[in-house]
Amino acid sequence: MIVHIPEVLDKIQLEHCREAMRRAGWVDGRVTAGYRSAMVKNNLQLPEGGPEHLELGDIVSRALQRNPVFLSAVLPQKVFPPLFNRYGVGMGFGSHVDNAVRQSADGSVRIRTDVSATLFLSGPEEYDGGELTVEDTYGCHSVKLPAGDLVVYPADSLHEVTPVTRGERLASFFWVQSLVRDKAKRALLFELDSAIVQLTRDVPGHAALVSLTATYHNLLRQWAET
Ligand code: NI
Repeated sequence: MIVHIPEVLDKIQLEHCREAMRRAGWVDGRVTAGYRSAMVKNNLQLPEGGPEHLELGDIVSRALQRNPVFLSAVLPQKVFPPLFNRYGVGMGFGSHVDNAVRQSADGSVRIRTDVSATLFLSGPEEYDGGELTVEDTYGCHSVKLPAGDLVVYPADSLHEVTPVTRGERLASFFWVQSLVRDKAKRALLFELDSAIVQLTRDVPGHAALVSLTATYHNLLRQWAET
């Protein structure tokens, strides 16, 4: 399940992040890559634990905690402190699967990566190339979203960032350990919750909402690992 979550950051937060990223020092993105990924990775990252990373990571983390679609689609147990990258012309990240377990640079967070996430900080008009392509059983999906929008997808998916051929692509990326490890179960819960939200909006007070909501929570109780 690949989910597009619009407007995770508002215009003011977005401009603040972009301005801080313009002033920041950058390092080679291979610092956080595994052995195989390092061979296909060519981008820049904000240094982990540096002042810009900590400040911007906090802005993104707080926005995620307030976003109902993110919470429903991902059912986060632990969220990795968001990282930030930049692809200039000629940069890209070839096909790979993200590492199964990630530890933050200071060792304070260690998670199993169930979900991968990319938050777009540049608009699609600002660069050519730089598509995130994600493979699933239905084929290869190309993702290029408005600035401030987020995409989440199963972390066991093969994916890549195609080379940028014009402009610059800024993004934040991170991983989530979910309360529900199985992606098929997560997808069922998300569909059920989305249907409950829709019914609550369109037919408030419908009698079936009580049992649907009970079923949602009882399935989550069956499947959640805490
Ligand atoms: Ni990746």
